[in-house]
Amino acid sequence: MKVLVTGAQGKVGRAVTSGLVEAGHQVTASDVGRGVFERPLPGEPAYQQADLTEAGQAFAIVHGHDAVVHAAAIPDPTHNPPHVVFQNNLMATFNVLEAAVRFDVPRFVNLSSETVPGFFFPERPFLPQYAPVDEEHPIHPQDPYALSKFFGEKLCDAAVERSDIRCISIRPSHVQYEGNYERNLGPQVRDPSVLSPNLWSYIDAYDLADAIRLAAESDLPGHEVFYIASPDNSCGKDFAELLRTYYGDKIELRDLTRPDASGISSEKAKRLLGWKPTRSWRDYLDQNGKALAR
Ligand SMILES: NC(=O)c1ccc[n+]([C@@H]2O[C@H](COP(=O)([O-])OP(=O)(O)OC[C@H]3O[C@@H](n4cnc5c(N)ncnc54)[C@H](O)[C@@H]3O)[C@@H](O)[C@H]2O)c1
Repeated sequence: MKVLVTGAQGKVGRAVTSGLVEAGHQVTASDVGRGVFERPLPGEPAYQQADLTEAGQAFAIVHGHDAVVHAAAIPDPTHNPPHVVFQNNLMATFNVLEAAVRFDVPRFVNLSSETVPGFFFPERPFLPQYAPVDEEHPIHPQDPYALSKFFGEKLCDAAVERSDIRCISIRPSHVQYEGNYERNLGPQVRDPSVLSPNLWSYIDAYDLADAIRLAAESDLPGHEVFYIASPDNSCGKDFAELLRTYYGDKIELRDLTRPDASGISSEKAKRLLGWKPTRSWRDYLDQNGKALAR
């Protein structure tokens, strides 16, 4: 397939671009950074610079593709003014999806977020109702990032109602790769009392890239939402015990697929996309949370 990847210079975009190229797809990579006027390296995908908040640029790059993987976004609400996060993320998604609908692109993969239910960046904190959190969990976003991602999912709902496009929204957990595992997960590996709103969950960037490729290749109808998190938790401990120790009975414990389960369930993605995660923080860190020699 001819696949467009937006946000291709980012953490997720880089991993998914390589995964799609390795799987034999013809990839166009796009981001706000400039391209280089050099001979392409072997296997290097074509590159198009575009600011997707501008509709003309979004329409220009989407044309001619069989699938769009939309990963471009400001990935958190803490480094920009709220209206910048909201406007950038929502208008980029609106423009790319609108172009995909108008050009009859059959498949749209929307990078949403584990933050959509709202308990990651709230001004008035609250906890998940139950764990592992899944796609049925109630949604009450307060911050501009989670709101932009929630509304992005709503745009996908509307797109499948008004056209033949098929959409998949992926809600990744905190994305880790060789460059940030130690910084992000090291403290929790050493000490589970270092809490995070995603209940000790994370996702390996390359397992995430596999899920995104499967979503791009999938012929699931309508719009489906999938959490993508590694099956294990980031400290390798018994999840029921972690939850009891640090949250008492404030979060209802639901069925676990393994004792050291993640706080987010990706069972739906395993079932409907055939996703099989194979990596773990243990491939990158030792028991003290220090990076392994690679
Ligand atoms: N990193 C995580 O832990 C995480 C978790 C959940 C969801 N996500 C989502 O996954 C996607 C990718 O995140 P990431 O971690 O790779 O972030 P990143 O910041 O590393 O990459 C995002 C890329 O999007 C590009 N971009 C932003 N605004 C753009 C615009 N208007 N036009 C064109 N390009 C634009 C940026 O230049 C950047 O290269 C995002 O949608 C993010 O919200 C990330």
